[in-house]
Amino acid sequence: MIWQNYIYFVHENKIRVTHLCGVIRIPQTIIIHGGAGYWREDRLMKALNFLKDLGEKSYKVLLEKGSLAAVEYAINKMEESPLFNAGRGGAPNLLGHVELDAGLMKSNGEAGFVASVKNVIYAISLAKIVMTETDHLMIVGEGAESLAKIKGLWVPENELLTNRTINLWRESVSGLLQVVSGQLSKERLAEDNILRRILDYYPHLVEFLRKNRAYLEKLQMKLGTGDTVGAVAFDGDELVAGTSTGGLFLKLPGRVGDTPLPGAGTFANEKGACSATGVGEDIIRVMLAKSAVDLTRNLSARDASREVFRILGEKFKIRAGIILIDQEGDWGIYHKTPKFPCVVVENGSLIIKDEWRE
Ligand code: GLY
Repeated sequence: MIWQNYIYFVHENKIRVTHLCGVIRIPQTIIIHGGAGYWREDRLMKALNFLKDLGEKSYKVLLEKGSLAAVEYAINKMEESPLFNAGRGGAPNLLGHVELDAGLMKSNGEAGFVASVKNVIYAISLAKIVMTETDHLMIVGEGAESLAKIKGLWVPENELLTNRTINLWRESVSGLLQVVSGQLSKERLAEDNILRRILDYYPHLVEFLRKNRAYLEKLQMKLGTGDTVGAVAFDGDELVAGTSTGGLFLKLPGRVGDTPLPGAGTFANEKGACSATGVGEDIIRVMLAKSAVDLTRNLSARDASREVFRILGEKFKIRAGIILIDQEGDWGIYHKTPKFPCVVVENGSLIIKDEWRE
């Protein structure tokens, strides 16, 4: 008899049980992405090496502990690494703070999301705590930080900022202030209290950034890294999607992207699981993750991952990438960004690439 993916049978007068995965070849797959975007070559190489090792380790966790544990493990490791835009090394906002978003969702509808949270490296674990230890689906800002304190996940901000991100922030904001004010020299700014200057010019900065998206995109490229990390997994039973991010470099404080919005940057149901990365505003507008999962009702995950960009792209600009897995264990990866480093481990075979558009 087969019940809930277990086979029950009689052998030597005893009832025995075995999991279907051991008998019928059910795919067990994990896909991990390090963020779509403008990767600088040297950082991209490091990210690919990192992802290869991470793919192997996360696959072991998948086999031993299942989809949820594997997704959390993979994302935690990227949050710890300053190579990626999540946790430590996350992109600072306009005021120089690292403000994180994260989301986790399972095929049975259980989910947890945190948004605009500071002083946490493992934002995905905080999202898991929201899912498993509260009655809520999403907790933001100070409330999320309080929860992080209670659960021992709170860290001082200097554990999130790196020399690289601080220097990039200082350099970029100095340049911005010079453009906006039209008067201050770099030397003068270095002496001044830069935060005070930002607040003095805040309305002008907001207006300038709104009207000059190309300027902001150039600054974004300086990060030399992707946007957001994520993973999706299928252990033969449960589908899980998770995503974690520092968000857009120099975003306005309090800005929330697609990552912690169910259906936008992170989504899973009984049909599929999807994690998105890219410009949050583009992704939210089209509910990219849910749209991709919905297409798996009629298409393979591979075709759905491409088709979702074709259909939605007719009307909207979608600067993003997705990883998608369906209930059969079929998977797809697609992106509309220059690079998208991802690793896939399917039944022990590993594929790693930085472009997935063929
Ligand atoms: N995709 C991450 C963000 O826009 O915040």
